[in-house]
Formats: sequence, C-alpha cells, structure tokens
Amino acid sequence: MNDRTVSRSRSTTSAWLALAALVAGLGVSLPVRADDDIERALVEGGKARYAQYCTSCHGEAGAPGSKATLDLRSYVARHGGKFPAADWLAVIADTRPASVHAEVWQRIRADNTGGTAADAAARGTVGQIARYVNSIQAK
Ligand code: HEC
Repeated sequence: MNDRTVSRSRSTTSAWLALAALVAGLGVSLPVRADDDIERALVEGGKARYAQYCTSCHGEAGAPGSKATLDLRSYVARHGGKFPAADWLAVIADTRPASVHAEVWQRIRADNTGGTAADAAARGTVGQIARYVNSIQAK
C-alpha cells in the first residue's frame, strides 16, 4: 500500500464510522459491488486490515485458510445474496472467551484508540474489512 492510499483511507474513517454504526444498527445491506472513489478507498483499507488481522486463519483474498475452512468469497451467496452487516459484526465482535474471534477482536480494539472510542473505532475497522470481502465475492 502506498502513502496516498493510507491517507485516503484514514480520511474516510470517520465518515465510515458513522455509516458503520448506521449499518450495524439498522441491519442495512451493503451494495454488492464497489464502484466509486470513496468505496474503493474503503475497500483498499479493508484489504490491508484483512491481511493484518484475518489471514492468520482465513486464507489470502478470502480463500479457505489454515484454521477457517469456509470460503469468504462465497460469504454473501451463503447468506441469502445480501451482505449481512449485523451478522458480520456479531460474528467478529464476539467477546465470549470461547469464540474463535475473541482474541482478534481484542487486538483490533487495542490497536484502536482505547477507552470508550475503541469499540466504535474497532467496529469501523471490521466494517472496512466487510467492504473488502463484499468486493471479492465470486460472480
Ligand atoms: C484465530 C483464527 C481466526 C481469525 C484470526 C479470524 N477468524 Fe474468522 N473464523 C475462524 C473460524 C475457525 C471460523 C469458523 C468457520 C470456518 O471454519 O471457516 C471463522 C468464521 C468466520 C466468519 C463466518 C464465515 C461464514 O461464511 O459464515 C466470518 C465472517 C469471519 N470468520 C470473519 C473474520 C474476519 C473478518 C477476521 C479478521 C478480522 C477473522 N475472521 C479472523 C477463525 C478465525
């Protein structure tokens, strides 16, 4: 990722946070394909975050990985053809100690600002990854 991509994705973070809260709260479906500049910046940010947080278990670019066997490229198709935004957040922001995602969720929170803003910021990160996974769905 180059510097321009980094600053572009940072500049859209707060807009995304508001949107993520709305999407999570209302269960609104995300559009199936990314096709404008803001959307592309979100997808690029999410791609980097996916590589950072998810590929230790899930595979490269959504393919099955070392610990997670489901293919994230068919995630939308397996969930009724619409990106299930609320389910997505619930699966990853799962604080139960036995949850497969408890540790990565805590790591995402710790890597964000800390304190009361950490939860919202961490949800923004997970939402960005959602945009990326949404963009790699098999046709
Ligand atoms: C410690 C390993 C691990 C990490 C790290 C991890 N996952 Fe998972 N994930 C799993 C396992 C195991 C499952 C259970 C399903 C399976 O085997 O594929 C799963 C399931 C999922 C599902 C449900 C899949 C479906 O098709 O219904 C989603 C969505 C998901 N993970 C997203 C993520 C995202 C996004 C990240 C990065 C923020 C992440 N996971 C990081 C292990 C992990």
